[in-house]
Amino acid sequence: MTIPYSSTQPVPAIGAVTPPSGAARPRLAFLGTGYLGATYAICFAELGYEVLGFDVDEAKIAKLAGGAVPFHEPGLDELLRRNLAAGRLRFTTDYKETAHFADVHFICVGTPQRADGMGADLSYVEAAVTGLAQHLTRKALIVGKSTVPVGTAEWIEQLVGKHAPADLGIEVAWSPEFLQEGFAVEDVLRPNRIVIGVKSDWANAMLYASHKGVFDLAATEDREVPLVVTDFATAELVKVAANAFLATKISFINAMAEVCEVAGGDVTMLARSIGYDPRIGNRFLQAGVGFGGGCLPKDIRAFQARAQELGAGEALRFLHEVDLINLRRRTRVLTLAAELLGRRSGPAGPDLSGTRVAVLGATFKPNSDDVRDAPSLAVAALLAKAGADVRVYDPEGMENARAAQPDLAYEPSMNDAVRGADLVCVLTEWADFRNADPIALGELAAGRRVIDGRNCLDSALWTHAGWEYRGMGRP
Ligand SMILES: NC(=O)c1ccc[n+]([C@@H]2O[C@H](COP(=O)([O-])OP(=O)(O)OC[C@H]3O[C@@H](n4cnc5c(N)ncnc54)[C@H](O)[C@@H]3O)[C@@H](O)[C@H]2O)c1
Repeated sequence: MTIPYSSTQPVPAIGAVTPPSGAARPRLAFLGTGYLGATYAICFAELGYEVLGFDVDEAKIAKLAGGAVPFHEPGLDELLRRNLAAGRLRFTTDYKETAHFADVHFICVGTPQRADGMGADLSYVEAAVTGLAQHLTRKALIVGKSTVPVGTAEWIEQLVGKHAPADLGIEVAWSPEFLQEGFAVEDVLRPNRIVIGVKSDWANAMLYASHKGVFDLAATEDREVPLVVTDFATAELVKVAANAFLATKISFINAMAEVCEVAGGDVTMLARSIGYDPRIGNRFLQAGVGFGGGCLPKDIRAFQARAQELGAGEALRFLHEVDLINLRRRTRVLTLAAELLGRRSGPAGPDLSGTRVAVLGATFKPNSDDVRDAPSLAVAALLAKAGADVRVYDPEGMENARAAQPDLAYEPSMNDAVRGADLVCVLTEWADFRNADPIALGELAAGRRVIDGRNCLDSALWTHAGWEYRGMGRP
């Protein structure tokens, strides 16, 4: 059943709902305390809810319980410490404690790409739901927040039916998540919309009560947060559709960059010019080394795989092209590097042996330490494979980068990476790199050659300082 409700007005009959625990506001659990779940747990405690964060990773839970966020997210550490001190926020590795504590259980575990194909690996979702369900002793709502293939919520209902006593009346709902790493605190406290997929008024009311803190904060700031209440399938699809659109927008402008490269155009001017049209808009329209991270690449692949299973594979065939355009940008940096270093490409690609290359940036975007499917690290690996002596530096991502690409060489600072380099590649647009002084760096480098993989440098400034500059999709 779809509840035909889509507005910012109060949900009917909300006041009548008493959480099963008997508490005044629903008690919330977040299962999976990674980038998504930990941020949610901490921010919802900040909104005044009693919150429990659950994870199977004992080291992660110990860190969080000790007041340290296990990843880099601006503003989150302070909120964690404040809410631990206030007693509203706790962490556990115990399913039983979680089942006993919460009225609403948000599933925030990872859904990575399967090792054997393009689809999503749902084993963590399955483990979390079954682990929880068998310990539930009263009515509760299980809400999926992870990004999943359409149909997952129905499957979770079946899992719950198998593992929890039927007379408890456990219900399932879906609420996809749109936070962006680097802006996650703001995105959770002040989301641009909340989407929920529900089958009953009770689930609708419990979810509304679970988000009332967000609506109340908005009201005090004279803002509105649109709430879309829909069915399971639509709620699940909203997230992958949004990511498919964003990935397509980035690959569109990167396709234009490819054309500019052969036609002698400048994609940055092109993007700016088309972006003034409000129907197009200039956000997510920066040509560069492409998208990466723990979401867009695996989400567009899982979306294609699921559409194929459902018999709608043709409809999403373009996403394959979106993926290919994105991956071609990585090899474009290799080609540019060979050109700048005067190396010819053979059938196995260019031979860069005997050259030294500084790679600035390892994370998939600035203000995060996330290196999952990061274009910067992928390019660093390509350069190293071509024989270059690659030196990587990133302000926050060094530890994760070392774990993901242990064979690369890492330097403790930007200056150390650039010292003695024949070529500098700026592949993540950290402010430190954007604002770097090209004159000072030029004195450290062995050769003044720079590839601006994010079109984030002032090309005139660098050229004036004697650098041979190459951007993406620029003459
Ligand atoms: N990171 C983002 O910006 C973002 C944004 C929107 C949606 N998402 C989606 O949210 C989900 C989580 O992403 P993430 O980036 O937080 O991943 P993550 O890898 O940082 O975190 C996942 C966490 O789940 C834990 N986990 C694994 N099995 C578990 C179990 N059985 N019970 C409890 N915890 C378990 C892991 O230990 C880990 O801490 C994914 O589906 C992702 O696509 C992420």
